Amino acid sequence: MDYKTIMCDVLVVGAGGAGCRAAIEAASHNLDVIMLSKELLGKAHTAMAEGGYNVSLGNVDPDDNPETHFKDTIVGGNYLNNQKLAQILVDQAAQRIFDLEDMGAVFDRTPEGKIAQRPFGKQSWRRTAYASDRTGSEIMVTLTEAIRKTSVRVFDEVFATRLLVTDGKISGVCAVDLKYGDYLVFRAKSVVMATGGAGRIFQVTSNAQLDVGDGYGMAYEAGCDMIDMEMVQFHPTGMVKPESAKGKLVTEAVRGEGGILLNNKGERFMNRYYPEVMELAGRDQVARSIMTEVLEGRGSPDGGVFLSIAHLPRSIIEFRLESMIEQFEDTGVDIRDDPMQVSPTAHHFMGGIKIDEHAATTIPGLFASGECTGGVHGGNRLGGNALADTQVFGAISGESAAKYAKNTKHLGVNREDIQNEFTRLEAMLNRKEGISPFDARDELTRLMWEKVQIFRKEEDMQYAVKELRRIEKKVVPNIKVDVPVKRFNPGWHQAMEFVHMVTSARMVAEAAVLRKGSRGAHFRVDPDPSDKGYYNIVIRKGKDGNMELRREDLVITKITPP
Ligand code: FUM
Repeated sequence: MDYKTIMCDVLVVGAGGAGCRAAIEAASHNLDVIMLSKELLGKAHTAMAEGGYNVSLGNVDPDDNPETHFKDTIVGGNYLNNQKLAQILVDQAAQRIFDLEDMGAVFDRTPEGKIAQRPFGKQSWRRTAYASDRTGSEIMVTLTEAIRKTSVRVFDEVFATRLLVTDGKISGVCAVDLKYGDYLVFRAKSVVMATGGAGRIFQVTSNAQLDVGDGYGMAYEAGCDMIDMEMVQFHPTGMVKPESAKGKLVTEAVRGEGGILLNNKGERFMNRYYPEVMELAGRDQVARSIMTEVLEGRGSPDGGVFLSIAHLPRSIIEFRLESMIEQFEDTGVDIRDDPMQVSPTAHHFMGGIKIDEHAATTIPGLFASGECTGGVHGGNRLGGNALADTQVFGAISGESAAKYAKNTKHLGVNREDIQNEFTRLEAMLNRKEGISPFDARDELTRLMWEKVQIFRKEEDMQYAVKELRRIEKKVVPNIKVDVPVKRFNPGWHQAMEFVHMVTSARMVAEAAVLRKGSRGAHFRVDPDPSDKGYYNIVIRKGKDGNMELRREDLVITKITPP
């Protein structure tokens, strides 16, 4: 199998908020940095983040400070966060938003000209900085422009499929140039994973098409420790219709700006569940409240509930929620007058690749940042903490990878591993008979949505595990692409992604089965009351190839669980 080899010092896999920030940081150390973007640069999922970036500037509520932000993050995370990581997040969020401003990002302002801050769920103060309701887009435009001013070599539409490990250390990655179908090997002294989450393993999700868990799959296969994969956040408010837009994010900013949730009786039902905080309860709490209304027959005609902002001044809606107006206008709803129909959507993975304070994974030379990592957000992430995470840990991972690269040489790579990987990919094109990747994905996403969703039950999750093991053994090796063409072939792309989707889904389901009590986003209808859940679950690929799961003690520095 022919392939091209490309050398660099630091390789960044992924080009969203964390990947771009990592690449910028690594390049500032005068190293040869390559960034791989599965899409065209700028189209990563970060651009779809809407509501904002949490940072305790105290511009609107002067009593806010990093310690309160820390406490909110830990309580919101149901005490499962790695407190060392959460501390770094809250301490460095301010400097990183100022970096973005220095690069040219424009955030909305207070009348005094400071960065404006809005309320988001489960936070003590108005803390979420924003650019209307397109904050992620503002950040991505800024970062991609900044990248172009650096020496970073960007490889657009290149999909990394496998990490290469030599003598237990990272040595590079195998990848495919999606445009031309060429096989590529990137050899690097250090690698940063910034591959985002895996919302796409669920049938209904707010995530971009890219977010299939390829980073989770690659890291697991390479031998990384993975943490808390069962903790998947279902954002309470995704679009319900039309079918093509199902799950699309309806930003928490709608509720932050004063939006109210109503059932089909016109009742403001959050009063029944969380009367003190109402619509600004934690995301897990609001999602469960909405689902309870729907399951008990008080839902909207299309299976959600109503979210109304018609009582707000038009100027607020038009200035702060402009994308929402457009998003619903396309479906014939003017949100200035009429309620939106919303229901929960798979949104964010709190779990992922286990990292330490230097963004180092358990494989020397391999670093990670952003949503593909686990530990920062515990059992439930606060809205607005993800964008801050991309910038804080993006910068840390870039710096750590640069320092590591400066002190090491390129390692050799195992040619057999490379040949095996490209042979595996090529086989999907050459198989005479097999299973379509589109059908396989449908089956997987439906299974996850039906059996490992917001309300979880032992027998459902056991069923999901059994099915996922079958899919891994019987479907993955038989995936067949309809048209055997290598140049930009979406069928082949989906086929290449599928194995990572299955690995990600298995980690979610297997960890969910192991966690017998309810905690954070993991809510059981049949909890074992003796399992308070104050532990993390770590997953690793065992020597015999089996998925090994173990409980691990929490990393606590300041706040002890109740
Ligand atoms: O609702 C939102 O705007 C999402 C923000 C987030 O997930 O941080």
